[in-house]
Amino acid sequence: MLINRRQALQLGLAAFTGITATSLTKTIHSNDNPKRNFRVVGQSPLRKRAVARGFLSGAAGNYPTLSTDAALRNLFAQECSILVPENELKWDTLRPAIDKFDFSKGDWLAKFASTHRMYFRGHTLVWDQALPGWFKEKVNHQNAENILVEHITTTVKHYAGKVHSWDVVNEAIAIPYSNRPDGLHPGAWLELLGDGYIDLAFRTAAAADPKAMLVYNDRWLDYDTPRDNAQRAAVLKLLERFKSMGTPVQALGIQAHLDGSETRFNPRKLRTFLRDVASLGYKILITELDVVDKKLPVDIARRDRLVARAYEDYLSVVLDEKAVIAVLTWGLSDRATWHSNYNPRPDRAPVRPLPFDSNLKRKLGWNAMARAFDKAPKR
Ligand code: G3I
Repeated sequence: MLINRRQALQLGLAAFTGITATSLTKTIHSNDNPKRNFRVVGQSPLRKRAVARGFLSGAAGNYPTLSTDAALRNLFAQECSILVPENELKWDTLRPAIDKFDFSKGDWLAKFASTHRMYFRGHTLVWDQALPGWFKEKVNHQNAENILVEHITTTVKHYAGKVHSWDVVNEAIAIPYSNRPDGLHPGAWLELLGDGYIDLAFRTAAAADPKAMLVYNDRWLDYDTPRDNAQRAAVLKLLERFKSMGTPVQALGIQAHLDGSETRFNPRKLRTFLRDVASLGYKILITELDVVDKKLPVDIARRDRLVARAYEDYLSVVLDEKAVIAVLTWGLSDRATWHSNYNPRPDRAPVRPLPFDSNLKRKLGWNAMARAFDKAPKR
């Protein structure tokens, strides 16, 4: 299998391939064009710019920060026309015990969304992560189907009529970890129920709330890399399989956790993928957009420019596809981002992946999103 420069470096084969970290860093820096000014017309918030072009714009929010931070609440109300709970509708929050549901935090976020005229989306009904402590010990081949059907039915009915869309199944495909031709992730649900768990999940959700848009959500769909190219091909096959089986899936969720240091962005390949998905009749949501800055220069002006470049280059391609109906970032401000814990910078400098800084001030990433929204074809 051929490996590219980046993989060679990661595999520590630099000595043999004549690659050095400097040459990789040089590539990243060459992307930094200080003359690119990200100028924006007017001061309108993102939610207004998006709705003017016929799509929704919002973010993931979580109970711990939104319930205690009035300034952050005001920012969400100003900028977002759709909200998704970051963690509050996952099993580990909803299910304190096998015979218990706790919707309190999800309900608080649903109320916050409706109070501020935001749509509310659910994330996520079936995932191999964020499973509660009792799961491994209490769920087995005999009871797994009933437990899955009960979870989806109870949760979807609880929010029926209040939800714009549900991420019914999240990250079912994981090319780097799968030994299957279909690329399915060898996780708990596949092990317990076989690949039928996916169709079962969507049919159960559709029965519980026929009005909600049902979404298949996945990541690693963005770049011209061996992993992402294979992931896009496998996801497209899964979407085709839904169509042939009549599985009630109406949209694809593209997480879009971008990497500001990734230079292998191929607009043509991404645009073709979006067109292929739309031609199958699916809508598309960008569900978890952010730009990891782990490998970017520590200098804030340069780092923010490179992050903004990633936002604008990506959204310009994505929003050209009219089947894209919503763009959500995974968090709104650097004050609360999963990257702080999951992708800290080696120099320990605070990460800056989102459109607002930790003082809730607009960054160039905000400008980049506003520019891409303003240029998007009207839906
Ligand atoms: O709430 C508990 C807290 O009571 C406890 O003290 C603390 C101790 O570790 O854990 C807290 O729960 C953490 C939770 O985030 C809330 O902060 C979990 O351990 C931690 O695993 C969880 O991480 C979330 C992760 O998904 C797993 O659910 C991240 O915040 C969240 O941003 C991340 O989001 C995922 C999407 O759902 C799917 N796509 C990828 C994305 C990023 O990984």
